[in-house]
Amino acid sequence: MKYLWTQIIAVSLFISALVTLNCVAQEKNNVLISSKETITVDSTQYYKEPFRPQFHFSPEKKWMNDPNGMLYYKGTYHLFYQYYPEDIVWGPMHWGHATSSDLMHWQHQKIALYPDELGYIFSGSAVMDVNNTSGLGTKENPPMIAIFTYHNMEFEKAGKINMQTQGLAYSLDEGQTWKKYEANPIINNTTLRDFRDPKVFWNEDTKTWNLVLVAGDRAQFYTSSNLLHWKLESEFGQNNGAHGGVWECPDLFKLKTENNQEEKWVLLVSINPGAPNGGSATQYFIGDFDGKTFTTSQKDTKWVDNGTDNYAGVTYNDTPNGERIFMGWMSNWNYARNTPTTNWRSAMTLPRTLSLSTIKGDYVLQSKPVAQFDQQLTTAFSKEKIEIKKGSEKTLNYSNFNQSQIQFKAANKNLKLVFSNEVNDSLVLNYDAQKQQFSIDRRQSGKVNFEKSFGEKIHTTPTPNLISKSIDFQIILDWSSIEIFLNGGVYSFTEQIFPNQPYTKLSIQSIDNQEIKNINIQSVKDIW
Ligand code: FRU
Repeated sequence: MKYLWTQIIAVSLFISALVTLNCVAQEKNNVLISSKETITVDSTQYYKEPFRPQFHFSPEKKWMNDPNGMLYYKGTYHLFYQYYPEDIVWGPMHWGHATSSDLMHWQHQKIALYPDELGYIFSGSAVMDVNNTSGLGTKENPPMIAIFTYHNMEFEKAGKINMQTQGLAYSLDEGQTWKKYEANPIINNTTLRDFRDPKVFWNEDTKTWNLVLVAGDRAQFYTSSNLLHWKLESEFGQNNGAHGGVWECPDLFKLKTENNQEEKWVLLVSINPGAPNGGSATQYFIGDFDGKTFTTSQKDTKWVDNGTDNYAGVTYNDTPNGERIFMGWMSNWNYARNTPTTNWRSAMTLPRTLSLSTIKGDYVLQSKPVAQFDQQLTTAFSKEKIEIKKGSEKTLNYSNFNQSQIQFKAANKNLKLVFSNEVNDSLVLNYDAQKQQFSIDRRQSGKVNFEKSFGEKIHTTPTPNLISKSIDFQIILDWSSIEIFLNGGVYSFTEQIFPNQPYTKLSIQSIDNQEIKNINIQSVKDIW
C-alpha cells in the first residue's frame, strides 16, 4: 500500500512537473502585444518568418521606425522605438519599448506612450532625472523622463504650420508605466513646419540639462535646470553639411580622440532625402560645444554609415564607463514601407560603439559592433592564408552565410567578394584600390523589385581614409541585412537584402595578386 502511494505521488509529481514546464513555456510565449491583446505563439515558429533577423532587434509584430529614448539605468538598457501597433506601414506613432541587460537579448515590454489629444508621439529621448530636478518624482524614487515630439494630425489636416511641439512624459517605475506631464507641450512652436526629435542629456561640464532638436534646415540648442522649462540658446547648420532634405533626429555628445586624448563634440543629424546613395542617411559634424553654442571648422560632409539602410541613429544616455553606443533604424524612407516582410517591418542595426580617430589630420567617427556581440559567435571555419592569383578566384562554401560573420585582412589592393546561392542570387562587394572606392551591388541579391529605388543601382562610396597597407574586413550578415566594417569602422556600410535562399557560396576574386590572411567564418547565435 505504502509502495502504491509512493508511486501515485511520484507519478503525480511527474505530471505536475510536466504541466509546470508546459505553463512556463506557454508563459514565455504568451506575448503581450499591447495592453489590450495577448497572443500565443508557437515557439518553433517564433521569430522564424522569411527574412526575420535572428540577432538584430525587430518588433514582434507590426511597424517600427526610429530608435527612441535609449537609456541605461541600473543594469538595464532601455530601447524605445517609433511604433505603429495596427499595421506594417507607418501610422499613428506610439513608443514601443524593449529592455536588455546585454544589448543582444531583448525583452519586449508594454507600449510606453500612446498618442493623445496633442498628437502622435514622434521621436525623442529619455534621461533619468536622478536628482529629481523636475520635481516629478522624489529624491528616493527619481523619475525617468521622456521628451518627444507631438505631431498634431488635426493641425496638419487643417493646414496649420505649427503642428509639431515637444512634450514630456515621466515614469516612476523605471519605464513600466508612464504619465504625460500635465502642462504639455513643454516647448511650443508657432512658426515652424518641421520642429522635432529632441535629444536631451545631462551636460557634466556645465552642470545643466541640454537639449538639441531640429528646426527645418538647422539644429537648435536649449538649456534647462529642471527639464520642464527650456531656453533656446543658439542654432547651427543652415550653411553647414548636406541639405538635400529636411534635418531629423539630432544627437550631441563628447568623444575623446583615440590617439591624442583630445575631446571633441560630435553632432549627428539625419537627413531625408539627400543621402549619397539615395534617400535617407545620417551625417555628422565634429566641433566644440560650450553648453550653449556648437561651432565647427568642418567644411566637408561626413556620413556615419555609407550604406543605404542606417537611419535616424542616435546614442545611449548614461552608459556604464561612458561608452558611446549607437543604434540606427535599418531602413530607408525610399522603400521602408514596401520591403517584403509579412507580419512585422524593420529592424535596428547592431548596437555599435562609436570612437573618434584622426586620419590624415582630419577627424573620423568610427563605429563597430559592441564587444558583447563577440559572445554570439561560434567559429565554423578559419584559415591563416588564402592566396588569390591575379585574375582568379577562390570559393568558400558554407551552408548559412545568412547568419554569419566573416573577418579577414586583405592587402590594400583590388578585391571582389560575391555571395551567392543555388538560385543565382548574388550580392557583390567590390573594393577598387586605384579609384579608392568601395561599392555594394545588390541589384541581383534576391527580392529587389518591391520598390524601384531598392535595386536600381550600384552603391559607391569614396574611401580615401583606407591608407593602411592591409585592410581589415568585418562582414556581418543576418537574414535580411549586411553590415560591413572596414578597418575597425573607419568606413561602415549597412544595407538590407532579401535573398530568395540563404547564400551558400563566397567567391573571393581579384585582378591583382591578393593575399587573404586570418580568415574566420563564424555562425551567429539566435537571440530570440
Ligand atoms: C525620422 C522621422 C522623425 C520623426 C519620426 C516619425 O525617421 O521622420 O523625424 O520624428 O520619423 O515617425
